[in-house]
Amino acid sequence: MEIGTCGSDPSAILTPSERSRLEQLGHRRRPSFLAARVALKRLAVAVGRAHPKTDFRKLQTIAPDHIRPSLPGDDGDQLLYCSVAHDARYAVAVADTHPIGVDVEVASDRVKRVERAFVSPSETALLPPTAGGQRTGLTKIWTVKEAVTKGMGIPLAEAFVAVQITKLGDDKSRFSLAGRVHTAYHETLSDHETLSDHVFTLVRFPP
Ligand SMILES: CC(C)(COP(=O)(O)OP(=O)(O)OC[C@H]1O[C@@H](n2cnc3c(N)ncnc32)[C@H](O)[C@@H]1OP(=O)(O)O)[C@@H](O)C(=O)NCCC(=O)NCCS
Repeated sequence: MEIGTCGSDPSAILTPSERSRLEQLGHRRRPSFLAARVALKRLAVAVGRAHPKTDFRKLQTIAPDHIRPSLPGDDGDQLLYCSVAHDARYAVAVADTHPIGVDVEVASDRVKRVERAFVSPSETALLPPTAGGQRTGLTKIWTVKEAVTKGMGIPLAEAFVAVQITKLGDDKSRFSLAGRVHTAYHETLSDHETLSDHVFTLVRFPP
């Protein structure tokens, strides 16, 4: 969902603990935090964990650690894993019966500047030759590693090394982690106002 479209009155949307977390955040971070809460609450309704008429102020979307997101309405029968991400324009929330992670980033030259910190030589060899292709490819690699961080609960610095991209594709990539090969799913939305691409990446870890 677009961050600017989700309503801006926290008192109509947030639980008391979500409000107190919001108040600890800087003003630039607040709209994305609020949008992530709305995305999770709407997702809870969409997957049947909350009634469509439930007051959003009663749906808790922060885990007890006050860091990770949680999907409201979990009744304990079937645990659902969830993940959220936001960039300057979009917030996205996902859920699954297995660990899942999501990320969204604007494709920019920022990733090129920090390339050495998160890309191995074998991953560099997968990148297309053009500057635009490299920007998008590096952004995809970054989003895979960040989504794995969230899905598997490992530190980002560890994911930079432990996750190795083996195939870089338009809508799917492959990566190895701890001896297993997984698929990452990509979606790219082009923003014609800012001429930028927003790269969404989803990873899931079925048994
Ligand atoms: C987790 C992390 C990669 C998120 O990246 P980001 O660029 O700041 O922001 P994103 O928009 O991609 O994602 C933010 C969301 O990730 C979620 N998140 C934060 N930490 C998380 C964690 N440890 N596990 C799963 N999800 C997490 C939050 O829900 C957050 O949104 P919210 O605060 O609005 O609820 C980043 O916070 C990070 O690197 N933290 C450093 C600590 C670390 O490596 N922790 C990993 C687990 S030990």
